[in-house]
Amino acid sequence: MSLKIVIFIGMNAVVFGASSGIGRELAIRLSQDGYRVKITGRREELLKKLCAEFPQLSYHTFDIQDLTAIESHFGQMIRDFGSIDLIVHCAGIGYENPNLIWEMESDTISTNVWSATKIYDLSFLLFKKQGFGHLVGISSIASLRGNRHSPAYFASKAFQVNYLESLYLKSKEIASGKVYVTDIRPGYVDTRMALGDAIFWMSPLNKAVRQIYRAIQCKRRQVYISKRWVLIAGVLKIVPSWLIKKIM
Ligand SMILES: NC(=O)c1ccc[n+]([C@@H]2O[C@H](COP(=O)([O-])OP(=O)(O)OC[C@H]3O[C@@H](n4cnc5c(N)ncnc54)[C@H](OP(=O)(O)O)[C@@H]3O)[C@@H](O)[C@H]2O)c1
Repeated sequence: MSLKIVIFIGMNAVVFGASSGIGRELAIRLSQDGYRVKITGRREELLKKLCAEFPQLSYHTFDIQDLTAIESHFGQMIRDFGSIDLIVHCAGIGYENPNLIWEMESDTISTNVWSATKIYDLSFLLFKKQGFGHLVGISSIASLRGNRHSPAYFASKAFQVNYLESLYLKSKEIASGKVYVTDIRPGYVDTRMALGDAIFWMSPLNKAVRQIYRAIQCKRRQVYISKRWVLIAGVLKIVPSWLIKKIM
């Protein structure tokens, strides 16, 4: 009788922006599924508390607007893990900014565009070198059109969607065929970011993260969260600007 020895090689993941909301829940789910996970954010107390609860997690505290800090922490993560299987970019901000206060627009662009691009590129180049890996970006349904209340947020999400698509197209240059790019486009999810009362079609956080995790497992190219937002996306893609101007 032959003796089969099965060696389990653990998977390594990084979730940027996991001190709260979608990133936090996703990190917990990954750790429960056997991943070793590095989580990031600025609110150290929250990161520390989460890591104390889930031993598969470890944290890095830094502001992602500091591009040099992103590079040095990213380097440290690779040294700690050896290789990284999954990187989720979840860090983001958005403001209602009807008066176009420059600091808010600038803050949004700095976080959602500059920092996101840095993280996307570092991830993609790492995966190219490794020959495998999965980059997941959390963009938004907001990527589909402009918005008079939050111009920078909506534009930054369109940037993310197109950048992620470019990296997906670019992955054809990687011979192994084992580098994947997923664009997650949530509608409203019940986190601190979804401000306001009686928000339309708000998904409970656990439902949204369950669907996001499933999309990651299936290595989907893009997905709307929750699923019913596909209908809204279909309408948003064809409705003329003059009509949006009239009703919103
Ligand atoms: N909730 C929704 O309805 C919704 C809808 C569509 C898309 N999204 C997208 O989903 C993503 C996650 O948002 P969420 O809803 O889970 O909100 P959240 O709870 O506010 O999470 C945002 C995360 O980003 C981190 N972050 C923000 N700015 C940062 C900075 N300068 N440096 C380091 N980390 C930073 C935050 O950490 P610290 O504050 O600790 O730094 C936090 O962990 C965002 O990209 C958002 O645009 C959300």
